[in-house]
Amino acid sequence: MLQGKDLVTIEDISLEEIMTVLETAQEFEKNGYPMDALKGNVIGSLFFEPSTRTRLSFETAVKRMGGEVSGFAGTEQTSLKKGESLEDTVRIVDGYVDAIIMRHPDAGAVAIAADVAKTPVINAGDGSADHPTQTLMDLFAIQKTQGTLEGLTIALVGDLKYGRVPHSLAKALSHFPTTKQIWVAPPSLRMPDDVRSFVKEKGIEVEEIEGIDSVIGVADILAMTRVQEERFEDAAEYEKVKDAYILTLDMLSGAKENMKIIHPLPRRYEIPVEVDASPHAYYFEEAQGGVPIRAALLAHILGKLK
Ligand code: CP
Repeated sequence: MLQGKDLVTIEDISLEEIMTVLETAQEFEKNGYPMDALKGNVIGSLFFEPSTRTRLSFETAVKRMGGEVSGFAGTEQTSLKKGESLEDTVRIVDGYVDAIIMRHPDAGAVAIAADVAKTPVINAGDGSADHPTQTLMDLFAIQKTQGTLEGLTIALVGDLKYGRVPHSLAKALSHFPTTKQIWVAPPSLRMPDDVRSFVKEKGIEVEEIEGIDSVIGVADILAMTRVQEERFEDAAEYEKVKDAYILTLDMLSGAKENMKIIHPLPRRYEIPVEVDASPHAYYFEEAQGGVPIRAALLAHILGKLK
């Protein structure tokens, strides 16, 4: 089903394929990883932009299944520094490896790589555009904590303009028409029109508001995001909105008992450390899902599972 496919945006993967990845990840968590599934395979790990969780969980997933990783974290020691193009870089790596995992600061760069490469290319985050494997982790966290992906109220909070994570999540949640989305953002950081159009075309109910207080008592999931400082052209504009939403323990007192806070991490101001001990905090547990989710995805894309 997923074998040989690129995953550039969350739209590249069907609902059936999403559910298969979640099911396989759950199986890996419960019964362990298929140790030799990637034996003899080498996976290219091309990180043009910083990462902790995505790169290390992908690389751990490969190693847990007996594979090897070849790549770079930062371009300083590569021939990109001599002026080599992205296309030529990808063309060369493509000949060395069995699949490519790629993060890049520019929206659309992973799509360019996927056009050049013959091997499958997986988007590990491209600029403000998409982060589809984070979305699989978000869905995994939601399903695990709520027991379902249907009939929920999910609030996407924070930098909905520059955040690639809420873009991909909003689109993926459109597979679940009984789940309501509430988009919470300051006027300058509202969801881009292309995502709004995508979701509306699917007939999904979305409420767009600025204040966070009214959602805390109705949400099953608070999907928090960091204000993406690195995407702002004007530092003064960032300063105006960087602490637009700061979730305090007091604010959580009216939350539903099983409401969970997810966050792709890293966090800045939006979740103070005091919230970590709350029963609503789930972001660190969510991050642990990165290895089983990415292992499941790789195993399916490389055709190692039936
Ligand atoms: N969630 C996420 O993408 O984290 P990293 O930037 O550390 O990979």
